[in-house]
Amino acid sequence: MPSAAHSDILIRPLTSSDVPDTRSLHSLVLPVQYPPAFFTQLLCLSSRACLIAVRRSQPNIPIAFISAALHKSSLLPLPGGLSASKALNSPRPRIEILTLGVLPAFQQHGLARRLIRAIVDKLCGPLTAGILVHANVATTNTPALKFYERIGMRISSEIIPNLYRTCPYGERDAYLVSGRLDI
Ligand SMILES: CC(C)(COP(=O)(O)OP(=O)(O)OC[C@H]1O[C@@H](n2cnc3c(N)ncnc32)[C@H](O)[C@@H]1OP(=O)(O)O)[C@@H](O)C(=O)NCCC(=O)NCCS
Repeated sequence: MPSAAHSDILIRPLTSSDVPDTRSLHSLVLPVQYPPAFFTQLLCLSSRACLIAVRRSQPNIPIAFISAALHKSSLLPLPGGLSASKALNSPRPRIEILTLGVLPAFQQHGLARRLIRAIVDKLCGPLTAGILVHANVATTNTPALKFYERIGMRISSEIIPNLYRTCPYGERDAYLVSGRLDI
């Protein structure tokens, strides 16, 4: 099994030359196909960011990724008039995790936790204690739901039907998970 020691793995911002491999990695670990424009926005918009994890020995090959958006003061919209918890309806800054994935061989070594901490620091700076973070997770994605629970996030909505309607396979319904992180 490849080494997943912290010191062997670097986390760094996505660059344009990383996009093809990072897009392939998204397709490998997530059931959603992300178009090239998604990655262009991550590179161009100051309110968005993408970090990748690489091994020191292969610094150009991503083994994990996270992308997120900083929403400065907008209420959280939910489709179809569904209700979210009160905390999510306060007009305060929040971070939305857009994508997160770790190659199976590198899972369960704390890498996703490191990526979340790093993207929060990148989007908000170091003074981020208590910022609200949220994500959508397929209702049947038990590993991801357990991961989010371990880092202090909780299911914060009813089931959102058909959120992943463009998915070629897999569950289409989702939960919103959110929390002020314990990372
Ligand atoms: C969910 C995912 C990102 C977690 O990545 P990871 O690097 O294995 O997570 P970490 O090692 O940082 O885990 C952090 C904590 O969550 C727990 N955890 C992670 N995966 C878990 C699982 N499958 N079951 C139970 N707990 C889990 C870890 O045990 C750890 O807890 P601890 O710190 O108390 O020991 C990874 O499983 C993945 O890429 N899944 C496929 C893509 C996906 O579903 N992405 C999320 C879409 S919203």
